[in-house]
Amino acid sequence: MTVEDAKIIELPKILDARGNLSFAEQNNQIPFEIKRTYWIYDVPGGESRGGHAFRKNDEMIIALSGAFDVVVDDGERQKRFNLNRSYYGLYIPKGLWRTMENFSTNAFALEFGSEHYDKSDYVHDYDQFKKLKSDEEI
Ligand code: TYD
Repeated sequence: MTVEDAKIIELPKILDARGNLSFAEQNNQIPFEIKRTYWIYDVPGGESRGGHAFRKNDEMIIALSGAFDVVVDDGERQKRFNLNRSYYGLYIPKGLWRTMENFSTNAFALEFGSEHYDKSDYVHDYDQFKKLKSDEEI
């Protein structure tokens, strides 16, 4: 995987005077089967999250409220995505390093994953990540 495999997916938006609605379905707008969802909130100013890669887990991240940046890195190149609308999802396939930063006040990040939580799926060390990438093991 390279940073070019991470992409913004525009979600349906049903505009309505009573309030707007968006949705995402597995194997449709979300290009994998969802085994897990989790969310990040109450992020203190200046903090960052992530800072790791997954070996198997594919992800979709939505800024349900507020805004933040996701920096995706393939060991050679980086791409920064600013998420600030609830009808855009960022798809990050496995094998990419990601960091979430610049959280606004009240930012709420909803994440979908293709795998159950598994500690051993994480690569936490950037040098190890680079080595796994160059050996094509991730
Ligand atoms: P982590 O994935 O490192 O958070 P982030 O990437 O956003 O910085 O997870 C932080 C802690 O939460 C860690 O102790 C594991 C736990 N956790 C679960 O138990 N289940 C989950 O699905 C996730 C995502 C995290």
